[in-house]
Amino acid sequence: MTAPFTIAVDGPAASGKGTISKAVAAHFGFAHLDTGLLYRVVGAKTLIGIEPIAAALALQADDLSAENLRTPEVAQAASKVAVIAEVRAALVDFQRAFARRAGGAVLDGRDIGTVICPQAEAKLFVTASAENRAHRRWLELVETGHDVTLQEVLVDVKARDERDMNRALAPLKPAEGAVQIDTSEMSIADAISAAIVAVSARRLPL
Ligand code: DC
Repeated sequence: MTAPFTIAVDGPAASGKGTISKAVAAHFGFAHLDTGLLYRVVGAKTLIGIEPIAAALALQADDLSAENLRTPEVAQAASKVAVIAEVRAALVDFQRAFARRAGGAVLDGRDIGTVICPQAEAKLFVTASAENRAHRRWLELVETGHDVTLQEVLVDVKARDERDMNRALAPLKPAEGAVQIDTSEMSIADAISAAIVAVSARRLPL
């Protein structure tokens, strides 16, 4: 097993960070954690009346494969519980343990390079215009049978940006030393290549 190597990938909703992170993890043979899922699990529990801090403290790895975590309602609920200090604190150890596992790890989220893993060996900040991101997310939702308009998704994306970027605790922003990738005008393949090039520059030759 190779030594731990953490790749921190942050960015706003639907920037392409999830797709890029999965591809980067596959390329390097690393494990991947979508940390948004942790907040989505907690958000989903609040929608059925469970108190958010209790939900965060009770979180189990198995919860991450629950169904219906990708709906717009759960996304908004996730963004709301993510402003609660005790919720964020309850999720830190799980993320840090994952980040330092043997064999390497890619974590994507909002505060990976800034708060969870400021010492990550490689950091990326993936962004795109709100219109571009809303269009991508709308296509995804329509393809999976959701009945939403592009305008509704744009409003949703902007509301989450506003909350995620302006919260007092661990707001979304580029980490120091992060390589920024703006995917607005890029193909998925080009964005993945740019990410692999940026990470490779941080790896010692074998
Ligand atoms: O990446 P996502 O869209 O699945 O994330 C859902 C919400 O969770 C997002 O709006 C803010 C929150 N989140 C966070 O605060 N910190 C993270 N590391 C990941 C997600």
